[in-house]
Amino acid sequence: MSDAPRFSRRALVGGAAATVGALGLGAAGGAALQAQAASQPWGMSGTRPFYGTHQAAVYSPPTAHARFMTFDLLDGVDQGAIRRMLRIISEDAHALTQGQPPLSDPEPELSVVPANLMISLGFGEKLVRTAGGAQAVPHWLQPLPAFGIDKLEERYTGGDLLVVVQSDDPVTVSHAARTILRQTVSFVSLRWVQDGFRRAHGSEPEGTTMRNLFGQVDGTKGPHPRDDSFAQYVWGEGIDHGNPSWLDGGTGYVLRRITMDLDTWDTVDRPDRERSMGRTLSNGAPLTGEHESDEPDFEARNDLGLPVIPDFSHMRRAHSTGQGDVISRRGYNFEADSAEGPGEAGLLFEAFAVDPVKQFVPIQRRLDELDMLNLWTTPTGSAVYAIPPGCQPGGYIGDTLV
Ligand code: HEM
Repeated sequence: MSDAPRFSRRALVGGAAATVGALGLGAAGGAALQAQAASQPWGMSGTRPFYGTHQAAVYSPPTAHARFMTFDLLDGVDQGAIRRMLRIISEDAHALTQGQPPLSDPEPELSVVPANLMISLGFGEKLVRTAGGAQAVPHWLQPLPAFGIDKLEERYTGGDLLVVVQSDDPVTVSHAARTILRQTVSFVSLRWVQDGFRRAHGSEPEGTTMRNLFGQVDGTKGPHPRDDSFAQYVWGEGIDHGNPSWLDGGTGYVLRRITMDLDTWDTVDRPDRERSMGRTLSNGAPLTGEHESDEPDFEARNDLGLPVIPDFSHMRRAHSTGQGDVISRRGYNFEADSAEGPGEAGLLFEAFAVDPVKQFVPIQRRLDELDMLNLWTTPTGSAVYAIPPGCQPGGYIGDTLV
């Protein structure tokens, strides 16, 4: 398949040894690192491809941990500087995702357990314009319209560059994120960082839909990467989307930081919580079905003649109207630190869509008008990014743009 890594295992090991050699650790040190890598439960097997048509994180199963970092371009960073930065990030991201210490890694031992590490980039409007000119900016790459439910905080909103570091190991996330921060310091300044988490890798059967901090099964309805319609709604295959050609193999992306009021949610009884969603808490089945994968019956009525899946339920309000309002969703739970005790909690909500204005905005508008979940949820951050395609060996993420 086109997204398979282009390096053989032998090439990977050889590459790692060369890098380690360049660090001055010598052949014996390199061999020791390789032996350490091989003895990890993950070994070298927990690697996701870096090179390919698409950035791996968009079509790969989410990992247990993620760090979202957004950056602002420093004054004076021009096209050439952006190119240099993207090349540096890509070289390091390639090495790290393949379990190899990048050149100049001060802690090379921390790089040998990728645990499915993925490092993906998103570009904000200013970066695209600076790198490729105004004609390179897709029409939807701008802040979302204001919604009545929004209580956006400046520090969680916008940004010129998004770097998402995902792995099943939190030490790997920390080390990889720090590497990117160190390497980009002369090009960008950090705007915000937010860690997200799901259940620990291996604690549930693979493919189990995640639970958010309300306890809901969250992520049932696709399109998922395994679905036929994913390529259409996410890569824009077979549809006339009008995106600039540098974005072929990439997509659009909306990140919403949504605070969830767990204290008030805890006071609501179980039937009301289920009605607010239209699905059960036990297994995520629609209120008209038994299993998570059952199709909801929006026409079904109860003995009183009322819809079983209420009109105000999140699922009914978010359900596609058949006018192209379809997104591929993914979420990571978050908790913010607080000196006073349990801090703010919520969901880092990601939507992938080849045209977010056409696909995401109508859904968010409907939820803004009516959604029972709004009683307990508040969007506190929002950003739109273009997710560039993947790159090939020798290239870098963004090389179709700059
Ligand atoms: C903290 C905020 C949110 C929570 C806790 C939440 C939770 C959920 C849950 C539990 C489901 C049902 C299971 C599933 O199909 O995944 C669902 C469905 C869905 N949500 Fe959300 N959601 C949130 C925000 C949003 C936002 C901001 C959007 C888009 C603007 C959105 C769009 C959807 C869509 C499209 C579905 C599928 C509806 C269908 O069945 O057709 N959600 N959400």
